[in-house]
Amino acid sequence: MIPMLDLKKEYELLKDEIEEAIREVMEHQQWINGPELKRFEIESSRYLGCKYSVGVNSGTDALVIGLRAISYVTMKKERFEEGDEIITTPFTFTATGESILRAGATPVFVDIDEDYNISPKAIERAITNKTKGILVVHLYGNPCKMNEILKIANDNNLFLLEDVAQAFGSKYCDKMVGTIGEVGAFSFFPSKNLGAFGDGGLIVTNSEEVRDFCFYLRNHGGRDKYNVEFCGYNSRLDTLQAAILLKKLKYVDDFVNKRREVARIYKEELSDEKEIKTPVETENSLHTFHQFTIRVPATKRDRVVEELARHGISSMIYYPVLLCEMQLFKNRMRVTSVDNAIKISKEVISLPIGPTQDRDTTIRIANTLKKIVREI
Ligand SMILES: Cc1ncc(COP(=O)(O)O)c(C=O)c1O
Repeated sequence: MIPMLDLKKEYELLKDEIEEAIREVMEHQQWINGPELKRFEIESSRYLGCKYSVGVNSGTDALVIGLRAISYVTMKKERFEEGDEIITTPFTFTATGESILRAGATPVFVDIDEDYNISPKAIERAITNKTKGILVVHLYGNPCKMNEILKIANDNNLFLLEDVAQAFGSKYCDKMVGTIGEVGAFSFFPSKNLGAFGDGGLIVTNSEEVRDFCFYLRNHGGRDKYNVEFCGYNSRLDTLQAAILLKKLKYVDDFVNKRREVARIYKEELSDEKEIKTPVETENSLHTFHQFTIRVPATKRDRVVEELARHGISSMIYYPVLLCEMQLFKNRMRVTSVDNAIKISKEVISLPIGPTQDRDTTIRIANTLKKIVREI
């Protein structure tokens, strides 16, 4: 079976360096807040072009802590209140909306555009006097239309938080995504563009105040061990994960280029097939293709997935259920018209992609897919 992403092959490439990094941590035994964590924070700030990075134990915690830091810095409140609304997309992983609830606010779900990302026009239409901020998601590694969204945020005095879980290394107008709004929240879930060997996350910001509050919250809310002021978490990025990520960070650009090459081949091979829509890339941006997500007619989608599996090709539906359709958000959200998101969620299929996927495999997948779509 062709996997969605071949992590074993990736490991083979970096095995020696990573095993050396693991051994070093085993030797110094500073598992928590060890020197590799600080080094990784410095190196990732340098790579991303921002002032500060704070390693945490997941992308979800990066979102929750990042949101609470904005609440504290802008309103001197540890959490938002239920009446505070944060506009976001319903076409994303659960954690995006869940983090808004956990930070005390109410999510407002608005529609998406053909590029799968939140629609700036839909954001504008949803703003009320309760709106506090916008949480954008650069889905599948494709940057949102940040110039338009930044203008809306500035004109309406709203904060902008970027969910960059799927977009490490993506750029918009030559700036790394995650560093455009007040806060960026990355995930190092193993399948991500930069993946750890377990859970991990990173908060990035240019604000010293935000950084300090994030440091407190990841460490039980204390300015130091027994001077505890806020209700925080045990959410440090493990030294071991930081050591592995430090090694992998050097390969991110190379791996992104390889993902982009796979995407280029898919696009070339699939361009003549009327019933397959390939991903739209945002203008003036660099898409890192965390996923290569196509659209087929909704009436054919589930059969296509079944047939791909029968031909030994993995595929996934990201995401079959919109957040506004989940029980979790019932009575805890506001939802505007999301017609395009509903339509798109019934048409999408994500195909295998990764830095080690070779040209022949990609062409074989594309040709098999075309044949299946034509025959159904
Ligand atoms: C868009 C998005 N946001 C947030 C998360 C949460 O990250 P984590 O799994 O590291 O908590 C993920 C992925 O896992 C994601 O894809």
